[in-house]
Amino acid sequence: MAKQASKPSEDKSEVSIKSKDRVRGQGEVFTPSWLVNDMLDLVEITIDNKVLEPTCGNGNFLVAVLGRKLKLVRKSKDKSKHDTLSLLALSSIYGIDIMKDNVHECRERLIEVLRVCSPAWFTNRKKMFSSAEEILKTNIMWADTLKMKFLLNNKNLSITEWALNDKIFSREEYSFKEMIEQGKKESKASEPIEPGTFGFEVMTPVPPLMPIKVFTPIHFSKLNEQHD
Ligand SMILES: C[S@@+](CC[C@H](N)C(=O)[O-])C[C@H]1O[C@@H](n2cnc3c(N)ncnc32)[C@H](O)[C@@H]1O
Repeated sequence: MAKQASKPSEDKSEVSIKSKDRVRGQGEVFTPSWLVNDMLDLVEITIDNKVLEPTCGNGNFLVAVLGRKLKLVRKSKDKSKHDTLSLLALSSIYGIDIMKDNVHECRERLIEVLRVCSPAWFTNRKKMFSSAEEILKTNIMWADTLKMKFLLNNKNLSITEWALNDKIFSREEYSFKEMIEQGKKESKASEPIEPGTFGFEVMTPVPPLMPIKVFTPIHFSKLNEQHD
């Protein structure tokens, strides 16, 4: 039986629009938390599976996703890994929005979730939060998703993939356009094969996507010390 949506809460403090102009101009209407949570119940969220919101607004979905990921971190038995795992969780969350204020709000809300959920996880809180801010500066992007351009410098949109090996983060940047094209190629390659003239077709494997930039791996507490 289909799951029933939860009833809307009566929380009037939740803002669904900022102004009529923004609704008309950018189609900006924020999703209420009850609906966000009902939708997230339909997907699997793990500590490090990647979530990209191409029109993230001020972060209603991403804030809830991070909350769920950090709950999983809290459940993990090895307490000595809570600090790195929480950064890994944060680094798996991506957002893009065309409105600069939304991007700033989204980053601030995510850092607040981390602050609230991780009171005793970090031995050096100052350094950890600097690393977290670096991740958010990279992953929550002020950009036009349709034009695939950053709005700060009109450069082509790129996505940074983070990977954690013990206490070391590696970081690779990929072209957003190439990622979209790769996705199309991969889904075409996985379509059922139509019998050809000779009764079969040879599938050409899709070559892996190459990064446009690779950073030197760095200790998790020093992410903000790494520059282009
Ligand atoms: C319907 S709102 C949804 C916001 C958020 N996903 C939520 O559910 O609360 C759409 C968002 O898309 C943003 N937006 C509109 N056009 C965009 C574009 N071309 N690139 C990136 N973001 C865009 C708007 O600024 C707005 O925040």
